[in-house]
Amino acid sequence: MKNLQNKHILLGVTGGIAAYKGAELIRRLQDEGAEVRVVMTHAATEFITPLTMQALSGFPVSLDLLDTETESVMGHIELARWADLVLVAPASANFLAGLRQGRGDDLLTTLCLAATCPIAVAPAMNQAMWGNVATQENCAGLRRNGVIFFGPDEGLQACGETGQGRLLDVAHIVTHTCALFPSELLTGKTVMITAGPTREAIDPVRYISNHSSGKQGYALAEAAVEAGARVLLISGPVTLPVPDRVTVINVVSADEMYAAVMENVAECDIFIGVAAVADFKPVAAAVQKIKKQHDAEPLTEPLTMTLTLVENPDIIASVAALPTPPFLVGFAAETENLLAYAREKLNRKGLDLIVANDVADNRIGFNSDNNGTTIISKDKVMPLAIASKRQVSVQIIQVIADLLNTRELSI
Ligand SMILES: Cc1cc2nc3c(=O)[nH]c(=O)nc-3n(C[C@H](O)[C@H](O)[C@H](O)COP(=O)(O)O)c2cc1C
Repeated sequence: MKNLQNKHILLGVTGGIAAYKGAELIRRLQDEGAEVRVVMTHAATEFITPLTMQALSGFPVSLDLLDTETESVMGHIELARWADLVLVAPASANFLAGLRQGRGDDLLTTLCLAATCPIAVAPAMNQAMWGNVATQENCAGLRRNGVIFFGPDEGLQACGETGQGRLLDVAHIVTHTCALFPSELLTGKTVMITAGPTREAIDPVRYISNHSSGKQGYALAEAAVEAGARVLLISGPVTLPVPDRVTVINVVSADEMYAAVMENVAECDIFIGVAAVADFKPVAAAVQKIKKQHDAEPLTEPLTMTLTLVENPDIIASVAALPTPPFLVGFAAETENLLAYAREKLNRKGLDLIVANDVADNRIGFNSDNNGTTIISKDKVMPLAIASKRQVSVQIIQVIADLLNTRELSI
C-alpha cells in the first residue's frame, strides 16, 4: 500500500556528509507514492550535485532565492504552498540555527518561513556539534514551535567518532514521514473515472453529442483524490479545470475513450464510468464537409438526409468482461423508470454499484451543479438527498470504500 499517494513533499538538503543519502530518500518517498521536489542549500551542492537530485526527483532543483529563473518556474511562495510537508534531511547545525532564528537569507529557510504545512527535520552532524549547547537550545526551541524531529541516530560517524548525530536511516525517515499522513478511505487505491460527453464525427465540422457537462465525473475525481486515491480521469470534451493531483487523458470520441480505458485499466482497483458515452456513431465520418444537394428545380418538400449509425463499443461491459475486473461503478441517467432501468443495467453489465439519476428533473442532472441520486448495489438501495455534485461525490466514494473493504475482508 502506498502511504504517501498524492502527497507533495518538499525535500530540503543541506550541507553535510549525509547529503548523498538525500538521493536515496527521494526514491523511497516516491516508492510510497509521493511527488518530491528538492531544494538544496549552496553548501549541499558541494556534497551532491543538483543534477543527481533533479534526475531522481524528475523536477528542476531549486537553489537560489534571488534567481529570476527559479522564481519563474515555481516561486518560493508557490513552492511553500505546494508542499504538504517540508522535510529537511539531512539538516545541518547551521540550518537548524537559521530556522530557530526565523532567518530568511536563503531559499530553504525562506520557504520554511512561508510554509503553513508541517516541517520535519532529520539532523545529521558530528556528535560534538549535536551536543553543543547552542544546537541543543536551537532544537529545543524548534520542538516547542512544532518542528518535528526524526532522529538523530547514534553510532559510528563519518569523522570516525562515535555518538549521537548520525542521520536516521532512510527507511526510518520514510516510516516516520508516512506516519504523519494517516491513511484515508482510498489510500493505496488507483481509481479510473470516465467523464463528460463523447463526440461522434459526422464530417470534419459536425458531430453527434449530448448534454453531459462532466461536472459529476470531475467532482468524483476530486473526492477520490481527497480520499487518498491515485486518480486517472479519462475525459471527453468539457470546459472544466483539471482537479489538482488528477492525471487526465483527454479524448473526443467513444472509440478513443474505449482505447484509453483499455490501455490503462489493468492498473486500476476501481473503475467509475460517469461519461455519457454515445451509444451510436455514424458508420463512417465523411472526409469532406457534407454539402446540401441543390436541384435545379425549386423543391416542393424540405430536403431529407439519412445518417446510418452503428453501435459504439460498450466500455463498461468490456471492463466487466476482463478476467480480473476492478470494482465497477456505473451511472444510469434515465428520464423514466429510473430504478427499474438502473437495476437492470447493474445486473446486465455485471456492476458492483450503479448510481442512478433522473435527468428529466431539471433541478439535477446534466449541466446542473446539483445532483440527487440513488446508489444501488446487488442487495441495497441507498437514496441520497439532492446536494451539490461535490457532496454527492463524497458520499459515493464513502459507499465504494465501504463495499470494497467488505469485499476485501471476505476474500
Ligand atoms: C567535509 C565537511 C563535512 C561537513 N559535514 C557536516 C555535517 O554533517 N553536519 C553539519 O551540520 N555540518 C557539516 N559541515 C559544515 C557545513 O557544511 C557548514 O556549516 C555549512 O555552512 C552548512 O550550510 P547549510 O546549512 O546552508 O547547508 C561539514 C563541512 C565540511 C567541510
